[in-house]
Amino acid sequence: MAPAPGEPGPSPHSGRPSELIGQQIAGYRIEDEIGRGGMAVVYRAKDLRLDRTVALKLLAPELARNDTFRQRFTHESRVAAAIEHPHIVPVFEAGETDGVLYIAMRYVPGRDLRHLLDHAGPLSVGAALRIATQVASALDAAHDHGLVHRDVKPGNILVAKGTDSDHPEHAYLTDFGLTKKSLSLTGFTTVGQFVGTLDYVAPEQISGRPVDGRCDVYSLACVVYETLAGGPPFQRDDDIALLWAHQYDEPPRLTEKRPGVAALDGVLAQALAKSPDDRYGSCLQFTAALRAAATGSAAPGHAPTRVDRHVVGAPVAPGAPPGPPRWARPVFRGLAG
Ligand SMILES: Nc1ncnc2c1ncn2[C@@H]1O[C@H](COP(=O)(O)OP(=O)(O)O)[C@@H](O)[C@H]1O
Ligand SMILES: [Mg+2]
Repeated sequence: MAPAPGEPGPSPHSGRPSELIGQQIAGYRIEDEIGRGGMAVVYRAKDLRLDRTVALKLLAPELARNDTFRQRFTHESRVAAAIEHPHIVPVFEAGETDGVLYIAMRYVPGRDLRHLLDHAGPLSVGAALRIATQVASALDAAHDHGLVHRDVKPGNILVAKGTDSDHPEHAYLTDFGLTKKSLSLTGFTTVGQFVGTLDYVAPEQISGRPVDGRCDVYSLACVVYETLAGGPPFQRDDDIALLWAHQYDEPPRLTEKRPGVAALDGVLAQALAKSPDDRYGSCLQFTAALRAAATGSAAPGHAPTRVDRHVVGAPVAPGAPPGPPRWARPVFRGLAG
């Protein structure tokens, strides 16, 4: 959505990042650009004091003169540093030097989920639910601190290699630039300053109602939907139609795009409910319901889905195998008796 009148555009692309490679900023030597988002460019850099690799996030130069973006950037470093959590990237240092605002944090080798989905397509049910659960734990930790992330999307989830075959990936939630205190109606992130994609935005964020952690439940559900379906639940030709769909249209069932996961439809529908009151109360409740549904321990009537790595792109027949054909039933009855 367009920035508020009088504000510069949010794109950092007019910065000349290649000019920074090899340069030193606040004791860090910039080595390579590794990513860019709505307001910042992230570099791999060497902390020359400790001789270790870090991720150095710099506020886009054309935004550094703008108070709203400066505040948002400083806010991000404080929030991320305040929450110690295995699925939130630790912040080492933040500051300003020669008019450049920076955050130094742990370098996460790996790609963000946006990149993974664009290059490898939808994930297996197992991988999707493992990543969702890790992100959910980070979000619930933020909520316990009274903070709502408000910008949960694949580009803000980093996926690194996990520790072993039981934990093949380790996900990090990043980008706390839009976080806000729960239920606060004021603040510097009004709808008019919404940056970036509208694919994951909750109905109450659109209508400007108070938000709490359940808006992150909605966005996380959009992300889970996309990791399994290959695209977000609502896809429309323009922003207005997309905003309308989030507020009023029924989300399509995942099984329309990804056969074999019928058990997850009801769980996703609840997490994508228009009213926060109708959603799960926390992100981990939502992902626990997903896992229960996928493994068949959900309410009767929900068909189990295999949760393993072999489901990548391959439809899995939902539910138990069908019973024997009519002509063979006497044989089976005989065996059972
Ligand atoms: N700690 C990190 N280690 C490695 N890559 C990172 C790290 N933090 C961010 N990135 C990369 O930079 C991109 C933009 O970072 P993000 O924090 O989302 O910035 P923005 O606020 O501009 O959206 C991410 O999508 C990711 O690819
Ligand atoms: Mg981002």
